[in-house]
Amino acid sequence: MSKTGSQPNIVSPALAAQSQMVYGAQTAQVIYVVAKLGIADLLKEQPKDVVEIATATGVSAAVLQRIFNFLVSRGLLGDLGDGRFDLTDMGRLLESDRVDSVHQRALFNAEVLFPLWGELLHSVTSGESAAERVFGQPLYRHLAQHPETRALFDRTMASAARHRHGPAVAAYDFSQFRTIIDVGGGNGALVISILQACQGPRGIVFDLPAAVESAREHIKAAGLSDRCSAIGGDALEGVPAGADAYVLSNFLIDMDDDRARAILSRCRAAMADGGTLLLIEWVMPNADEEPDPYRFWDTTSMDLIMLTIGGSGGGHVRTAGEFQEILKASGFVLKRILSTSAAVRVIEALPG
Ligand SMILES: C[S@@+](CC[C@H](N)C(=O)[O-])C[C@H]1O[C@@H](n2cnc3c(N)ncnc32)[C@H](O)[C@@H]1O
Repeated sequence: MSKTGSQPNIVSPALAAQSQMVYGAQTAQVIYVVAKLGIADLLKEQPKDVVEIATATGVSAAVLQRIFNFLVSRGLLGDLGDGRFDLTDMGRLLESDRVDSVHQRALFNAEVLFPLWGELLHSVTSGESAAERVFGQPLYRHLAQHPETRALFDRTMASAARHRHGPAVAAYDFSQFRTIIDVGGGNGALVISILQACQGPRGIVFDLPAAVESAREHIKAAGLSDRCSAIGGDALEGVPAGADAYVLSNFLIDMDDDRARAILSRCRAAMADGGTLLLIEWVMPNADEEPDPYRFWDTTSMDLIMLTIGGSGGGHVRTAGEFQEILKASGFVLKRILSTSAAVRVIEALPG
């Protein structure tokens, strides 16, 4: 028995940290309440007392006081000692209109992912996704039938994507290309970031026909219609030829190896021998790597999200070795893997 283990009355740092993890769902739900009631936005301009916030949100001041006490304990609010509270730097991230806001993610986590986490044991023991158990189908099919949840999902992805796209654009020299196709490019956010950072290249967003209109709107709003277009199609059937760079971001993670290989092979077939393939994905660190704690958490968290949502089946975060294998089987050679300031990495591959 360890020294601390033999002193059960002492709250060791490990026990304190572990207790907070065990009750982590409580923190997530308190943050959800703050996001749903718009409390951070109400405190944005100046500190306020509980009664003012209770009146504005239509809840009991006595109950809100208890929520505020918890928020102070978690470092999200500061207690000014005169009855008023203000947001800490961390609390400000819950304001809804910041570029780095976690507001949408707090809503999505509680309203969509939370019931899935409740079935994680089922996923682990049965191999069936939690979404199958909770929604009777994979998350994406559920979203297709529930437009409001779909809209929440889209807003959440858009807010989270900024924290992947910016670091990826900063980590890799995209200015060397003439034409960049983003396969599974969604609303075009990544291509827009690349073209805003580099004057030279032209961009094409390639995604399912249903997604293309939104990409066109974003391209137009960014003032890039002269350098960028959007094409609808199914990457499993083929991707447009003629670009010198094919980018796939947060795309293969959702697929089993067969589908991932099929899409990579379509990219290889469309690409000239001098082309470049870039994957912007999470990479599971090897046992001999010492990963940065935040990136390691984000990577393993994404992997478990893939387990619970049951995307197109078999989606998971791959190791560098697993990427190497699916790339090789699709006609590519993995050249290098670049770290970014976010958890995602840029995997550069060339036709083999
Ligand atoms: C998780 S989103 C990633 C969006 C974006 N690349 C990013 O970095 O956040 C996956 C995208 O792939 C698209 N997609 C899924 N299956 C596809 C297919 N067979 N062909 C083309 N696009 C597809 C989806 O419509 C969606 O926009």
